[in-house]
Amino acid sequence: MNLYQILQNFHSGWAYLTLLMGVLFVLMIGYFAFSKKARTAGITKLSFFATLTFHIQLLVGVVLYFVSPYAQFTENTMKDATNRLYAIEHPLMMFAAVVLITIANAKLKKSESVPMSSFILGLIALVLVLSRIPWSTWLG
Ligand code: HEM
Repeated sequence: MNLYQILQNFHSGWAYLTLLMGVLFVLMIGYFAFSKKARTAGITKLSFFATLTFHIQLLVGVVLYFVSPYAQFTENTMKDATNRLYAIEHPLMMFAAVVLITIANAKLKKSESVPMSSFILGLIALVLVLSRIPWSTWLG
């Protein structure tokens, strides 16, 4: 296995955990925010680990970006939907999602309750992730 294959396998497998943590984040933060519950140690940890999971996926994704044959730019990149997804849309949207969940986590840490803004930011992050996963190559 070369570096590319190791990174690709990791990024592909870690994506399950990223999705799971993203869904848990939205469900639990949403539950706490809507029922106006005080922030507990448990929810703070969940938020931290969800953010950490996203950050690890981002770091590996950035390295993968430079070695993947799918993330190459050609004169057809904008015309070819698959090439455009890997070279532009996936990295940009995933990066935005990581920024959003990081802000959601920071807002949660600073607040005594669980803020609605953390839920909304987390929800947008999850929607961005779901919208730009290359589903057919990942699970196909
Ligand atoms: C943080 C959320 C992210 C998630 C959930 C995610 C998820 C995925 C998934 C499921 C695949 C398909 C893997 C497969 O076909 O087996 C993939 C591929 C890829 N991702 Fe991400 N990704 C994320 C972030 C990023 C970022 C930030 C970058 C780059 C800056 C990136 C770059 C890539 C590249 C280049 C591929 C294609 C790899 C290849 O097969 O050559 N990803 N990603």
